[in-house]
Amino acid sequence: MAAMIINGKEVAQQIQDELTVRVTELKDKGVLPRLATLLVGENPASQVYIGQKRKACDRLGIISDHQTLPADITEAKLLSIIDGLNNDPGVSGILVQLPVPEHIDSVKILDAISPQKDVDGFHPFNVGKFFTEKSFSDMIDKGLFLPCTPYGIMELLKRYDIPTKGADVVVVGRSNIVGKPITMLLLAADATVTICHSRTKNLKEVCQRADIVIAAIGKPKFVTADMVKEGVVVIDVGVNRLPEGLVGDVDYENVSQKASAITPVPGGVGPMTITMLMANTIMAAKNQAGI
Ligand code: GUN
Repeated sequence: MAAMIINGKEVAQQIQDELTVRVTELKDKGVLPRLATLLVGENPASQVYIGQKRKACDRLGIISDHQTLPADITEAKLLSIIDGLNNDPGVSGILVQLPVPEHIDSVKILDAISPQKDVDGFHPFNVGKFFTEKSFSDMIDKGLFLPCTPYGIMELLKRYDIPTKGADVVVVGRSNIVGKPITMLLLAADATVTICHSRTKNLKEVCQRADIVIAAIGKPKFVTADMVKEGVVVIDVGVNRLPEGLVGDVDYENVSQKASAITPVPGGVGPMTITMLMANTIMAAKNQAGI
């Protein structure tokens, strides 16, 4: 059986259409959503991501201010730029593209971004907020900043009516950006969640139990057909640039023969990440305006 393809590009477009209306409504009230992006150095993948984020801003009518900073910028200088953006009432959201060069402490940088402008949802204040929330719908109702990739995955599951209540979900990868936060969001959506990583014993057997597999380990085609059960739903967060092109963390060709639904790479999770960043930026502008 061939899997249903979870079309992230299409869902992202739908949500972006909804968001464009919200931007117009805000502008009618004199509120201009503005996203400030910072890129340190010239990492080619980061340049692509920043370009995609800025293009999305343009499409939705969000102002995007970008600064590319030299790779050898001091941590103190970067912190002072962030401080300036924190104190600029015209800036709704601040995003520092990761990774930053080794000599800069990324934890210190993320801590320095004002929690009210933290559209990535990486500040410990915002992380604490959603970690302590019991229900996913309450997180949305309360207007918490959720990290964009996990938030995008939740929206995909919701819009494709993939049930999470009581579902066995295996998350492969334990990063702060995806693995850990998606675990908390799914837990709040009543899933039973297992996180696996490079040291996990019997990874294959653990994955085989999953109703939903989230692959976010950063290794091309890591999840193979023998690791999943028939009818599994597979969400592939991987973006690996190989000579053959862009591939995910899932062996798509073979896993899609067993899965009931699967996200492609590209066109799955990626467009959703960018879309949820737009949603967070609009929410930030709205909250700061007190409306
Ligand atoms: N690098 C990889 N993913 C992300 C993300 O979601 N936000 C930022 N700022 N950097 C990243």
